[in-house]
Amino acid sequence: MRILVVGIGGREHALVRALAESPSAPELFCFPGSDAIFRLAKPVEADGLESLVAWMKSNAIDLCVAGEESYLVKGEGLANLCEKQGIPCWGPPKESAQLEASKEFAKAFLVRNGIPTARATATDTLDEALRAIGGDFPTVLKFDGLAAGKGVAVCPDEASALAFLDEVLTQRRFGPGRVLVEQCLTGPEVSVFAAIVDDQYLIFTPARDYKRASDGDLGPNTGGMGAVASRQLVSGEMLEVIEREIVRPTVNGLRQENLPYRGFLYFGLMLTPTGPQVIEYNCRFGDPECQAVMPLVHGDLAGFCLAGAQGQLRSDLIDFSDGWSVCVILASAGYPESSRNGDRISGLDAVADARVYHSGTRIDSEGNWETQGGRVLAVVAGAETREVAVTRAHAAADCVTFDGLQRRRDIGILNF
Ligand code: AMP
Ligand code: GLY
Repeated sequence: MRILVVGIGGREHALVRALAESPSAPELFCFPGSDAIFRLAKPVEADGLESLVAWMKSNAIDLCVAGEESYLVKGEGLANLCEKQGIPCWGPPKESAQLEASKEFAKAFLVRNGIPTARATATDTLDEALRAIGGDFPTVLKFDGLAAGKGVAVCPDEASALAFLDEVLTQRRFGPGRVLVEQCLTGPEVSVFAAIVDDQYLIFTPARDYKRASDGDLGPNTGGMGAVASRQLVSGEMLEVIEREIVRPTVNGLRQENLPYRGFLYFGLMLTPTGPQVIEYNCRFGDPECQAVMPLVHGDLAGFCLAGAQGQLRSDLIDFSDGWSVCVILASAGYPESSRNGDRISGLDAVADARVYHSGTRIDSEGNWETQGGRVLAVVAGAETREVAVTRAHAAADCVTFDGLQRRRDIGILNF
């Protein structure tokens, strides 16, 4: 089996490794990839989606796995182009990936399908936005498009709302697009991942990510400074409610609205006092949740994704460990406002009892690993209990150093 994974980060490194460990022993390729990924997968030269898909066709690729969302909605869409060439793709077509690419589309889908979510109004202008807020703070403002995790502001007061609206509607920081004014929900957040194959689905181990930069869940929002994954994060009863009120109606809604879906769908949920509600959909696995979840997945993930892309949900091919997995992110100087490249990384060889996935690294001219991006490494450890997994993950993370390293010390410990 020949598989090509699309993406570049820690999530894709974790996916590639899980695919590499599959008993079907696939031959792996990656685009654009990274030096770390290229230890497990061969690089592919392509100068755009069309040429990538043409390469897949002429190189007899059996399966394309979409790691990162942007390719799903670029141009004609990765999955759409694969379909034209008859290449099975694990990842949805462009029309279905609007669930992630447009918050307004997702909100309308949720409302049409009676799936619990925060009330929201889409607006074009500052006046309309202020009218929709109606002086009711805190409020949540969301740019209606892909903004690399930076398009959402939870605003405690009018001054912060005005500042965000100015950035988005006047300065057009993220380009053209409307703003959603959304009711502010409260409660713990959980990330639920389902592998969807047409009208069927399999729910993976739930996870929680730590979005803020600093300990105590303070500081600016980031792409995620760590994650914890376990079946035990959510009670059996709560998981049943999530499945009945959110996952199943989503899958039914996709079918009814002729939105084909074969791939991972990420449900960003808030467990509010009145029940779970959807905050967002992402048409991919989470990053860094993927790095926490993948070590808990056993069996033939490669065979599972290939069968799924061909229309068969083969839940018998994989299963999940019962324990806990903790992922600690090591970020570079300046993150999340900026990042610093070129800091030499040491201590990777000293890591024991843990996996290290590379989010943003490269090999320098002397053959050493150095930083290349904001989130640099994900150090992941597992155990039967949360406490042991936390201790192992942080002890392993202690082995690794580079100038400017930033990390949270409460990943897996802080429960919110
Ligand atoms: P999103 O990019 O939509 O996942 O939003 C990023 C973060 O903003 C979420 O993880 C939540 O912490 C917060 N957030 C988003 N929507 C809401 C909401 N309606 N109420 C409260 N917090 C929210
Ligand atoms: N960890 C959040 C995300 O992948 O969007």
